[in-house]
Amino acid sequence: MKKLVVLSGAGMSAESGISTFRDTGGLWEKYPIEDVATPDGFFKNPDLVLRFYNDRRKQLMSVKPNKGHELVAELEKDFDVTVITQNVDNLHERAGSKHIIHLHGELTKACSSRNPNDSRYIKELIPEEYEIKVGDKAGDGSQLRPYIVWFGEAVPRIETAVQFVKQADILVIIGTSLNVYPAAGLLNYAPDHAEIYLIDPHEVQVSSSKTIEVIRKGASEGMAELLARFRK
Ligand code: APR
Repeated sequence: MKKLVVLSGAGMSAESGISTFRDTGGLWEKYPIEDVATPDGFFKNPDLVLRFYNDRRKQLMSVKPNKGHELVAELEKDFDVTVITQNVDNLHERAGSKHIIHLHGELTKACSSRNPNDSRYIKELIPEEYEIKVGDKAGDGSQLRPYIVWFGEAVPRIETAVQFVKQADILVIIGTSLNVYPAAGLLNYAPDHAEIYLIDPHEVQVSSSKTIEVIRKGASEGMAELLARFRK
């Protein structure tokens, strides 16, 4: 079976009703990145940051995977698929994808604020725990925090992601503006023989000399078109 890697971003979940970050009306227009997505922001106002992610977590319960997520899961019938996602939602999982690398963390998990990547203190939250408050403690006694990779923090899963991209026969990039590194640099690790597709309704600036087949459509329509091309 050919190895296919999907690299997804916020646009993958847009049709499920989750805002992207950098489109007009996107999340970073309403909430400054420095306030809600940096260690410094958390240090200055933990309550604001916890509320921001509590809201995202609550929203996750009210949304569903869209056709795009479902078609990504369907790729597993024909390919050996790895999904590398920048998204912190669990919509790929809920659509049935089996092998998912979350580069930027997961909304449904919480961790230690002293050492966010200490696996002993990373825990899956049950819905009753979705509201994290100031004073809630991780297993090491530090303030519990969302298991999210903030700006300025290391991206521990990147090395694993690179290994999968290096093995890819096909790379499918969906719904990411490719603004944020190291994720945006992943496509440069695709081997020369790999076919690269990019599905996005808007133009994406790609800093790479690789040949990329662009499908200028939303995630659902774009994935349907890609599957039709594969099955031709
Ligand atoms: N289908 C597919 N793509 C879409 C759709 C759609 N229906 N709607 C919008 N898009 C595209 C936009 O055109 C844009 O290229 O999704 C992309 C979203 O880009 P960003 O908002 O920048 O999101 P992303 O690239 O995932 O951001 C990367 O930045 O803020 C951090 O950690 C956060 O993981 C995030 C990272």
